[in-house]
Amino acid sequence: MPLRNLLDPALKIVLFGGKGGVGKTTSASATALYLARRYKTLLISTDPAHSLSDSFERSIGGRITEVQEVKRLSVLEIDADKAFAKFRLEHEPEIRKLFDTSTGLDEEDIESFMSMPIPGVDEVMGFKTIVDIIDEAKFEKYVVDTAPTGHALRLITSPRLFDDWIKVMARLRWKYRYMVTRFAGEYRPDEADDFLFAMKKTVKKVQKLLQDKTQSEFIAVTIPEAMAIEETKRFLMQLKKLNVAVKQLVVNNVMESEGCDFCRQRKHSQSIYLTVLHKEFSNLELTMVPLQPTEVKGIRGLQVIMDHLFG
Ligand SMILES: Nc1ncnc2c1ncn2[C@@H]1O[C@H](COP(=O)(O)OP(=O)(O)OP(=O)(O)O)[C@@H](O)[C@H]1O
Ligand SMILES: [Mg+2]
Repeated sequence: MPLRNLLDPALKIVLFGGKGGVGKTTSASATALYLARRYKTLLISTDPAHSLSDSFERSIGGRITEVQEVKRLSVLEIDADKAFAKFRLEHEPEIRKLFDTSTGLDEEDIESFMSMPIPGVDEVMGFKTIVDIIDEAKFEKYVVDTAPTGHALRLITSPRLFDDWIKVMARLRWKYRYMVTRFAGEYRPDEADDFLFAMKKTVKKVQKLLQDKTQSEFIAVTIPEAMAIEETKRFLMQLKKLNVAVKQLVVNNVMESEGCDFCRQRKHSQSIYLTVLHKEFSNLELTMVPLQPTEVKGIRGLQVIMDHLFG
């Protein structure tokens, strides 16, 4: 069954996730090609390994780049570490002030707090880049390629983690505000308050986008092999806990040929796992993509996968 509903105009963002090496980047790229036939589409990689450059056989990098050969398609590789470094640089004074005014810590304590990672913030900042681009509304569809399982989960849990941090900080601020009001009679919000407020807004925006089922869809990718199936099961369970509904599953690398002994054996071993897949994931729509004789690269190769994904 081909992938469905992605042309629905209400659907803005399609994310692909799954175990390492199963074909996430290939599926995301082929989907972006398909959507670009009708919509202005931006394909975004959040994978630090940035394989879109491989998939499209060109260097992409941190800027929105038009794909010359494909009308309406642009690509972008987002670097969460860089987004976080920028965040740190921009907001260090406000964060320092939060610790400084809120807690009665000494200089040394503050320094150790400053060097501690803020949970979820790097991924949230990476996501903020996406939300900001969506706000600019230059594109009609966004396709997101993620790094293997753990990373996609981190990406999705990041707003909640960061939100928890914001809440703790806000509580400390309340105490500070209370003290100031008691002793000075009046409290005027400062840049640290503005900072917390702006961060809260960013988190809310990211959460809203990810949890709105008409606007976003998460597609899982797997292959017909035991370990991949097990990992997919765990992955889907975790996504469900996070309130991310998955309706469609791409089953990649399906052996079709019976032209040689090797192929027949592979096909036989896969047939067992295909049965398992149909049984285990009977609540999902499965889209089969055959194993290609060569690795999938460049627009030609991606078009072949696109034809299999969308019929
Ligand atoms: N159906 C297919 N037939 C043959 N080769 C494929 C197929 N799908 C993907 N490939 C090849 O398999 C390799 C892995 O695919 P891809 O990069 O899409 O996986 P991935 O899940 O994004 O990997 P990673 O977890 O490393 O990001 C690539 O070299 C790709 O060209
Ligand atoms: Mg990839």
